[in-house]
Amino acid sequence: MSEERPKHLLIRDLAQLATPAGVEAPLRGAALGEVTVIESAFALCEEGRIAAVGSMRELPSLEGDVEQLDGRGLCAIPGLVDCHTHACFAGDRVEEFALRAGGATYEELHAAGGGIMATVRATRAARVQELAEAVRRHRGWMLRAGTTTFESKSGYGLDRETELASLEAIRAGGGIATWLGAHAVPPEFDSADGYLDFALAEVLPEAARIAEAADVFVERGAFDAAQARRYLGACRGAGLELRVHGDQFTEAGAIPLAIETGARSVDHLEATGGEGIRALAASDVVGVMLPASALFLGRPMPPARALVDAGAAIALATDFNPGSAFCESLPLVCSLASTQLGLSPAEALSACTVNAAHVLARAGRKGRLAPGYDADVVLLDAPDWRYLAYHLGGDVVAQTVVDGRAVG
Ligand code: NIG
Ligand code: FE
Repeated sequence: MSEERPKHLLIRDLAQLATPAGVEAPLRGAALGEVTVIESAFALCEEGRIAAVGSMRELPSLEGDVEQLDGRGLCAIPGLVDCHTHACFAGDRVEEFALRAGGATYEELHAAGGGIMATVRATRAARVQELAEAVRRHRGWMLRAGTTTFESKSGYGLDRETELASLEAIRAGGGIATWLGAHAVPPEFDSADGYLDFALAEVLPEAARIAEAADVFVERGAFDAAQARRYLGACRGAGLELRVHGDQFTEAGAIPLAIETGARSVDHLEATGGEGIRALAASDVVGVMLPASALFLGRPMPPARALVDAGAAIALATDFNPGSAFCESLPLVCSLASTQLGLSPAEALSACTVNAAHVLARAGRKGRLAPGYDADVVLLDAPDWRYLAYHLGGDVVAQTVVDGRAVG
């Protein structure tokens, strides 16, 4: 970020300030929908942290140099947290997008050597510098849509050099890196087990020094539950947190595996049935839902309402990637949550702030506007904070504050 951070930044005269209530994380059940709303509000940032929030009537007199941001006509919410993206890739899949519009399916394209492998070919061919530029460009798009914290997976290299370069590029671009070493089996290996032998011996030791977590795609045509268990066990042994892509097309044991291995989350869940819902609800694993991906592929939406009503901890994310969700907008995801998943705007807000921060082990610092939290704030161009979900595809983000600095 270019500009210097002012010691104090006062965001004043806001129409509203809205933040998930309480101090707990992750939020479940009724608590997921509890949002504190302050009318005619201010937020005071000090040295990159929130020092105070409140009503303008209670604004203390401030000494010294205080930069001021005019919040008239705007609403403040916490900086959005995107806990599931694939932002490090080269090329695009616009040709496949057009084929899918003509009736081809994502799974057919994958089986024919396109899909994820098409992006692997483009990413392997890119220079390290190009990967870093791609992440920075995608991060810029996310920031304009109000995302102030993002996770990104590798998984388009699937060889040592490109996986490690991807993880470095993600970190250099300000992201939280997840090693998706088990995304697909690359063509130079004739079995998933043979590829895992290589990945765990040759890539994991270095990947574990760069990434915070590991992820695996449990699915027909990718990795089965036994292979995923081996991969996750080795990654846990190397000190990584665990994530799982599961139940995207079929129920292949991802939820029981995520619970058994103590994963932070299981993500997708478009194919999850009653037993999976009950098991997830009784566990500490967060169900991350990606409705932009379901929409983009014309797939069923995940059972978000049933999960919340059963007591599961859920989060929302974009799944930003070139194939199944070319969408970086969490506000659009919130609109889908309220129109397609049966979640209230308040539940959607908590799911892509405090609960997403919990998935990334940052709920103590990110995802709320309260004293002590990082000064990451989104100012919505709206008289009511619920425009976050209401303004479908709208240009709803007026300004973003990251680490106490106004950006964009
Ligand atoms: O989360 N399902 C696996 N991986 C990604 C898609 C990756 C791609 O199509 O490039 C996902 O949807
Ligand atoms: Fe994904």
